[in-house]
Amino acid sequence: MAAATDQNDSRSTNPTASTTAANAPAPAQPAPPEGGESELQRNAKRHLWMHFTRMGSYAHAEVPVIVRGEGCYVYDEHGKRYLDGLSALYCVNIGHGRAEIAEAAARQARELGFYTNWSYAHPRAIELAARVAELAPGSLNRVFFTSGGSEAVESAWKLAKAYHASRGESTRHKLISRKLAYHGTSMGALTATGLTPLRTPFEPLTPGGVHVPNTNSYRWDEDRDPLWAADAIEEAISFAGPETVAAVILEPVQNGGGCFVPQDGYFQRVREICDRHGVLLISDEVICSWGRLGHWFGSERYGYEPDIITTAKGIRSAYAPLGAMIADDRIAEPFLHGKAIFNHGFTFGGHPVACAIALANIDVLKHEGALRAMLEGLRDLPIVGDVRGAGYFQAIELVSDQETKGTFNDEESEELLRGFLSGELYRRGLICRTDDRGDPIVQLSPPLIAGPEQFEEIEAVLRPVLAEASERVERWSSLSRA
Ligand SMILES: Cc1ncc(COP(=O)(O)O)c(C=O)c1O
Repeated sequence: MAAATDQNDSRSTNPTASTTAANAPAPAQPAPPEGGESELQRNAKRHLWMHFTRMGSYAHAEVPVIVRGEGCYVYDEHGKRYLDGLSALYCVNIGHGRAEIAEAAARQARELGFYTNWSYAHPRAIELAARVAELAPGSLNRVFFTSGGSEAVESAWKLAKAYHASRGESTRHKLISRKLAYHGTSMGALTATGLTPLRTPFEPLTPGGVHVPNTNSYRWDEDRDPLWAADAIEEAISFAGPETVAAVILEPVQNGGGCFVPQDGYFQRVREICDRHGVLLISDEVICSWGRLGHWFGSERYGYEPDIITTAKGIRSAYAPLGAMIADDRIAEPFLHGKAIFNHGFTFGGHPVACAIALANIDVLKHEGALRAMLEGLRDLPIVGDVRGAGYFQAIELVSDQETKGTFNDEESEELLRGFLSGELYRRGLICRTDDRGDPIVQLSPPLIAGPEQFEEIEAVLRPVLAEASERVERWSSLSRA
């Protein structure tokens, strides 16, 4: 087995398959049924360009077509039911098929299907901005709507630059983010993204991206200073030249690499560092807000106040696209007087139907959690290395050896994740994410309405599949020893 890798190694054997939303893994997908493919299948294969997907995988296998959702479950075109253990990519916090959301959307479409926020306002955007400001921490009171997460990240970086420029510091343009972190795919957001295989095909990116270590402590030496990753941000700022740095962007719990939680005091240290150097702190809560970590905003869970929050996904449980950048009053202030302007916008930012949905969504959001205990219970399986995360956002890191925290090489990882795990989990009716952009993980992020019944169901799939994976790994080890 491969030796342990550095936690910040952003090697990724295959960014496309590993970032497939439902991890629909071609090799293990069912073959087309007798009697030929449905029209949906034919058209999916002929015309639909799926995101982050190895399209060739479906040459001899079915595209997983999800046609309907209800609560924690979704159904494919054959009527098979799956537990949506990923909330449709961390989005559907209140569960699928909620009639009250559909009704709010229909009401709004009848009343005002669309108007823009460019120089105009409409009631739902105003009401939602006020609601978001009321729930957001501290003095983050100014809400700029976008269509999704990448646009929110773009907006935050641009606002940071514009804010500094308004104060005569126009050399501040750099953005510091963490290795393995995912912040989106548009060119600015991609610059923040710390996943080498997603970046290199599109270089040169936006100038000014700087990457620092993340907080994955699983393989840190025991005597390592727990706040060294926070201090690495200060080193990066000093090295770059503080007068050139606009902002640091961090997720409360980092998704890329598998639910990296912060060390105690990490965000407090980062806040001090940012303040010391006049750098803004952006909390990218595209996943980690709207109850995902048990709070409205992930920054509340870890007790820090950012200058800007970016959010999307759970704000409207993805019944329509919407994102937001929430700015502290101090950051918005320079743009509120005279001829000043933040020269930036998106046609659909704050779409009235999406805002109506978000308002209805916030009404039904609840906070509860007990997923972790079930996952901790899987530690008796030799392949389960680390179990980490917060709230309804958890990951299991897979290892070749629990004792040595042994990692897998690219070939083993490919075989394990795409050759077995993702297909088998899906076949048994569980949608979750298997990912090897860092070390291989299985990630769960179910709707927040999931409870003991669903956790039992998840365990009933995960346990035998991970047990079988452990046996496969054991067989590889004995072969390599032979
Ligand atoms: C933390 C974070 N930021 C930004 C994004 C990009 O969001 P979108 O895909 O809506 O553009 C994502 C998407 O998963 C994300 O997880």
